[in-house]
Amino acid sequence: MKKALAMILALMMVLSLAACGNSDNPQNSNAGGESKAPVETQKPDDNQSGGEVANKDKPLVWFNRQPSNSSTGELDMDAMNFNKDTYYVGFDAVQGAELQGQMILDYITAHIDEIDRNGDGVIGYVLAIGDIGHNDSIARTRGVRKALDTAVEDGGTIKSDPVGINADGSATAVKDGKLTIGGKEYTVRELASQEMKNSAGATWDAATAGNTISTWVSTFNDQIDIVASNNDGMGMAMFNAWSKENKVPTFGYDANADAVAAIADGYGGTISQHADVQAYLTLRVLRNALDGVDIDTGIGTPDDAGNVLSDEVYKYVDAERSYYALNAAVTAENYQDFMDATKPYGPVSTQLDATAHPTKNVWLNIYNAADNFLSATYQPLLQNYDDLLNLKVEYIGGDGQTEANITNRLGNPGQYDAFAINMVKTDNSASYTSLLEG
Ligand code: BGC
Repeated sequence: MKKALAMILALMMVLSLAACGNSDNPQNSNAGGESKAPVETQKPDDNQSGGEVANKDKPLVWFNRQPSNSSTGELDMDAMNFNKDTYYVGFDAVQGAELQGQMILDYITAHIDEIDRNGDGVIGYVLAIGDIGHNDSIARTRGVRKALDTAVEDGGTIKSDPVGINADGSATAVKDGKLTIGGKEYTVRELASQEMKNSAGATWDAATAGNTISTWVSTFNDQIDIVASNNDGMGMAMFNAWSKENKVPTFGYDANADAVAAIADGYGGTISQHADVQAYLTLRVLRNALDGVDIDTGIGTPDDAGNVLSDEVYKYVDAERSYYALNAAVTAENYQDFMDATKPYGPVSTQLDATAHPTKNVWLNIYNAADNFLSATYQPLLQNYDDLLNLKVEYIGGDGQTEANITNRLGNPGQYDAFAINMVKTDNSASYTSLLEG
């Protein structure tokens, strides 16, 4: 009898300890301000067994690929509202895309005397498209076409389809643009564009872009005055394969370290999507939900270590449950400031106290381990922040082709306190949420 009593007592102690460690309790949130240490007297929720939160109630952040319909772009609000601790972290795709277009237009304006390599009166560009069903890619294609006046609208939105080859300007997804620079009118033509997808189905594929530029060059040669790309991975592949040697300005997106460094060798420019802020937000929202503090802690409101972001670098759209980092153009004028792409952002780089913010386990996947931006910039940043935020993150790298390659490695969600998901296809949120519901 005594023995049984002792066992029950021991069990109760274990349970109450576990409940203290688990602070995912909305009552703990602190609307106006500073983060608070979890309240020790809290009771576990009904759906927690043995102090454990049900998988379906654990904090979940979607990042980089916003749950949305890949044809219409409509946000998948079911995914974004999966539970009260679900958010998306990305960046402002439209603002960044417009900056990219403007950066190319500014370059043309500043170099108008030498830009038209063969002097045929047509400024020709080629465009590498990442993924025709990805909203970032769509926005960037539109941003370039809008700035260069080659855009064609369909029902109020700019067409983003690839044109294939458009030697004579007859493609229907674009038109020949007119730019007036220094009082003179110039024609701009999208000579070619293509989705860079490899034969296995991986999109944003740098190797495909590197091969495609050779095909385009054999068709157009010195008609190509500018190379534009939806990202730096593809942009650098084209730069290294051809445009560097031929001194043709090439523009990408992401501010990957190799691309920023290449600006010294003639790479035209890139856009920083503030991956340092995004990677922080990706883990920070999980940390806050796990601590049971207001979600704004360490974001718009300083945390107990003084970490805080200013609204110059991010915005939060409540109706979309989404945090968006803001972008900045990186060109010959300022690239020196962007050389270290994997350095944590200064204002949010202070270590959290391990007693108030105890270690938690996070499962996180990168949809394609071969994606230049995600593996060379985003993941190293996450790895810096996970230490600062006391999160033990298991990183899973996908093949960029099938969701199953990733979900197969989420066999035991019960082992983790929170999840960070980067889908292969933006329509596929249910492949993950069904595992958490099951
Ligand atoms: C990045 C690309 C990357 C893609 C992956 C985009 O936001 O700019 O470089 O390939 O995300 O989802």
